[in-house]
Amino acid sequence: MPRSLCQITDFTTDEVQEIFSLCGKMKKGEIAPRPLEGKSAACIFTKESLRTRISFEVGISELGGNPIYVTGKEIKLGERETIADAARVLSRYVGLIMIRTFKQSDVEELARYADVPVINGLTDLVHPCQILGDYFTIMEHLGPKERYKIAYVGDGNNITNSWLNLASLIPIDFRIGTAADCIPDEQLLKRAQANPASRILLTEDPKEAVQDADVVYTDVWASMGQKHLVEEKTSKLKKYQLNSQLLGYADPKAIVLHCLPAERGREITDEVIDGPQSVVFDQAENRLHIQKAIMVFLLQYA
Ligand code: CP
Ligand code: NVA
Repeated sequence: MPRSLCQITDFTTDEVQEIFSLCGKMKKGEIAPRPLEGKSAACIFTKESLRTRISFEVGISELGGNPIYVTGKEIKLGERETIADAARVLSRYVGLIMIRTFKQSDVEELARYADVPVINGLTDLVHPCQILGDYFTIMEHLGPKERYKIAYVGDGNNITNSWLNLASLIPIDFRIGTAADCIPDEQLLKRAQANPASRILLTEDPKEAVQDADVVYTDVWASMGQKHLVEEKTSKLKKYQLNSQLLGYADPKAIVLHCLPAERGREITDEVIDGPQSVVFDQAENRLHIQKAIMVFLLQYA
């Protein structure tokens, strides 16, 4: 039975730790597995991308495989044919499928009918590869800690939801500073709150979220597919801008993360993203390493 990554909670806590450990070994060059040798991998994009496309294509090549990029416009998933038929056909050609699209249910349907691993490269609901890579970046920069204090300020979106997913598996003191009508997914929020080892705070006060944090994270206020809402979101979220004044409430050794692309001057200022606490480019690099680890992990079951 193939395993897929539709969202982080498809993994157990031990499996997430195994993926971090694999990631560390592969990044240091201690191991260089090639489970995709002689195979191709389909990379389906219904939304735009820089990091996800390039890091997956490079990662697939480094694992011995041949990446095939295909746009949603071309295959019209669920329109030209059912998602189930597309999954069955793709499984006859490729050893792995990566997909970035809008609906989470489309990724889950693809995974249900595919005979090869399916990896979610972002949906409106979650962005699992991003947050697994981000946690690895935090461990690299801050060293081990029982429960990092992670503040997320801004729109409650796929990034926030993925942090909640991770907090439901491993101990995180996760504080979300956002406006009342920009909150993350309520089911994922409840699931994270059900993990007694994590602490979840949802507040409209950005200072309360950031107070003494080890990590301060933000993301765009209007995600892909919602760009028409940017002015409306900006008026609701402007007090959550990550600027030096807000960062001043965090622990002085706190690191700053942003999944990128950033809208500089909107959710984050230049002085913060270019400042000494920012590790956003290490964070972007780790997408490559974590995705290779995720692929190696999943391909064990293929
Ligand atoms: N962070 C991220 O997924 O970037 P892209 O949208 O460029 O892939
Ligand atoms: N929340 C953003 C993340 C981009 C990597 C989006 O969905 O557009």
